[in-house]
Amino acid sequence: MLKIKNLHVSVDGTVILKGVDLEILNGQIHAIMGPNGAGKSTLSKVLAGDPAYEVLSGEVLLDGVNILELDPEERAHLGLFIGFQYPVEIPGISNLQFLLAAYNAKRETPVSEEAFKELLMGKLELLEMKPEFIERNLNEGFSGGEKKRNEILQMAVLDPKVAILDETDSGLDIDAMRVVACGVKRLFTPEKGLLLITHYQRLLDYIRPHFVHVMIDGQIITSGGPELAQELETKGYDWLQQVKA
Ligand SMILES: Nc1ncnc2c1ncn2[C@@H]1O[C@H](COP(=O)(O)OP(=O)(O)OP(=O)(O)O)[C@@H](O)[C@H]1O
Ligand SMILES: [Mg+2]
Repeated sequence: MLKIKNLHVSVDGTVILKGVDLEILNGQIHAIMGPNGAGKSTLSKVLAGDPAYEVLSGEVLLDGVNILELDPEERAHLGLFIGFQYPVEIPGISNLQFLLAAYNAKRETPVSEEAFKELLMGKLELLEMKPEFIERNLNEGFSGGEKKRNEILQMAVLDPKVAILDETDSGLDIDAMRVVACGVKRLFTPEKGLLLITHYQRLLDYIRPHFVHVMIDGQIITSGGPELAQELETKGYDWLQQVKA
C-alpha cells in the first residue's frame, strides 16, 4: 500500500536519508526506532510533502501513485496522515474550524458544523479529551501532551488509510499514553497501514507492531519483529552501529 523505494533526501545541502526502503501492506503496523538524528522525522516530513526537503532520488508509492509529485493536500486526499513530532500552533483558527475544513475537504457534500460537532464528540470521547479543546485555537497554548493528543484527534476525524505517527508517545503522561495508544489501536483496521516512530518499547506494548525497523544514519539497517524493540531497550543501538561498520 505504501512503498518507499531507495529514498535519498537532503536538507540545506546535507544528505540525511541515504537509501530508505520500506513497504507497508494493508493491515500492517510497522515501527521505526533509531538514535536521535537518524532521519526518522525527516522521513515523515518528506512523506508529508515539506518543501524544505529535497528528494534526490527514489520513489514513494501510495496505492501505486508516486506521491512525491503531489502537494501535501493531494497526499492527504489520497488517505495519508502524518502526526508530527512537533505539532504547529495556528493562532486565529479554532480547532473546530480546522478539523471541519479538513474533514469537508475530502467530501463531495460538506457536512454542517452542527452535524460535525456530533461526530467530533464521539472522537473526543474515544481519546478522553475535554470538549472545550475544540473551541480553542489550534494548538495555541496547548501543553506538549495536549498537542500530541490533538494530533490523534485529527487522525480520528480524517480516518486515513495510512498514518505515520512521529513520536506521538513523547510528552504524554502514563495515562494519556494508554488512552491515546488504545484510541489509535481502535482506529486501526485491516484495510489500513500504520507506521509508528518511537524511542520506547512502552508504546509498542500497547500497539504491537508486526515489524520493527532500526534507522541509523539515514538508512534502515535492520528489521525484525516486536522482539527487536525489546532487544533495543536492553542493548541500545551501539551494537548495531558496529554491525553496520
Ligand atoms: N535544515 C537542516 N539543516 C541541517 N541539518 C538538518 C536540517 N534539518 C534536519 N537536519 C539534520 O538531519 C538529521 C536528521 O534529523 P531528524 O529530525 O530526521 O532526526 P530523528 O531521527 O527524527 O531524531 P530524533 O529521534 O531526535 O527525533 C539531524 O542530524 C538534523 O540535525
Ligand atoms: Mg524525530
